[in-house]
Amino acid sequence: MAAKKIRVAVIGAGNMGRNHLRNYSALPEADLVGLADINSATKELADEYKTKHFTDYKKMLDKLKPDAVSIVVPTPFHAEVASEALERGIHCLLEKPIASTVQEADKLIKLAKQHKVVFTVGHIEHYSPLIKKLKSMVDEGKVGKVTSVVCKRVGGFPTVEPKTDVIIDLAVHDIDIISHLLNKQPKKIYSHGSRTHHSKEIDSAEILMDYGDASGFVQANWLTPVKIRTVAITGSQGYLEGNYITQELEYYKHNMEKIEDGFSNFVIKMGEPEKQVIKVDFEEPLAVELRSFLAKINGQDVHLVDPQAGREALRLALEAVESYK
Ligand SMILES: NC(=O)c1ccc[n+]([C@@H]2O[C@H](COP(=O)([O-])OP(=O)(O)OC[C@H]3O[C@@H](n4cnc5c(N)ncnc54)[C@H](O)[C@@H]3O)[C@@H](O)[C@H]2O)c1
Repeated sequence: MAAKKIRVAVIGAGNMGRNHLRNYSALPEADLVGLADINSATKELADEYKTKHFTDYKKMLDKLKPDAVSIVVPTPFHAEVASEALERGIHCLLEKPIASTVQEADKLIKLAKQHKVVFTVGHIEHYSPLIKKLKSMVDEGKVGKVTSVVCKRVGGFPTVEPKTDVIIDLAVHDIDIISHLLNKQPKKIYSHGSRTHHSKEIDSAEILMDYGDASGFVQANWLTPVKIRTVAITGSQGYLEGNYITQELEYYKHNMEKIEDGFSNFVIKMGEPEKQVIKVDFEEPLAVELRSFLAKINGQDVHLVDPQAGREALRLALEAVESYK
């Protein structure tokens, strides 16, 4: 059966909302019916994408009755806007983090179940070809038993003062991805945060996550003068290092030998590791995310971020905030 074209609208057309608009307009399975933003200057964008413009998103939902929406407003408004859409039975892709509080997240998850709609959270790295490849290699045992996952998400100074701190805004991606790669949630999370250039929120944080037999570490900031986005996995049999920006992935396989030291003791000798550059076919993660969202609405069996995982990432990020405070 041919997939149904989904009538989709975007709420919030700032930095990220523009990318949702651009991608939907290029997807044959999407019919971009409208855009709502309180900033009337975004009418220009609606004209560019030949779609209807509204400054009141509720009016847009009632008038256009879209099948689905992307909600790309600042985080403090996520719960309010998503509730309005879910209560109208509209499928929702809500940008990360899911909400400002765990209670809000639980309410949204409940609403989505009640109204039997597709509800997902924009943890975009799940759709990165790099992460898909890394996860399959870890699951196949290529690095053996994982002992640590270290993520770096630094640089990229925001053009406007952030409305949330760097843990809630940036590190939440890595907190989620580390648990996704390890297939479990941490027992404890600790952090250190500092504020250098921003007036209210911390703009630099280091986070340590304790998974019992493994650990996760995240460095996230808006301070480092160069934008770096990496993930590195160390295991008993090897090491993987990936770069989100270039989608480059390197794999080092242990070259270990057990040798006798002459006194009947066995010692481990480490040789030069085997290095392989793993090819990852580049695809814009947001395009994959939006296509997966539409495919799920059309009843296809695709991987979509479970809102419960978004809720866990928020819960942990809030705990990390408490830790530095
Ligand atoms: N997944 C990612 O990689 C990623 C990247 C950047 C931002 N985000 C998320 O996207 C969201 C938006 O971030 P941004 O950087 O685009 O912010 P932004 O401030 O650039 O844009 C937000 C837009 O929402 C509009 N808006 C605010 N309240 C509204 C309302 N009630 N109704 C309609 N429009 C409203 C604003 O006018 C603005 O145009 C945040 O939740 C952020 O965490 C995700």
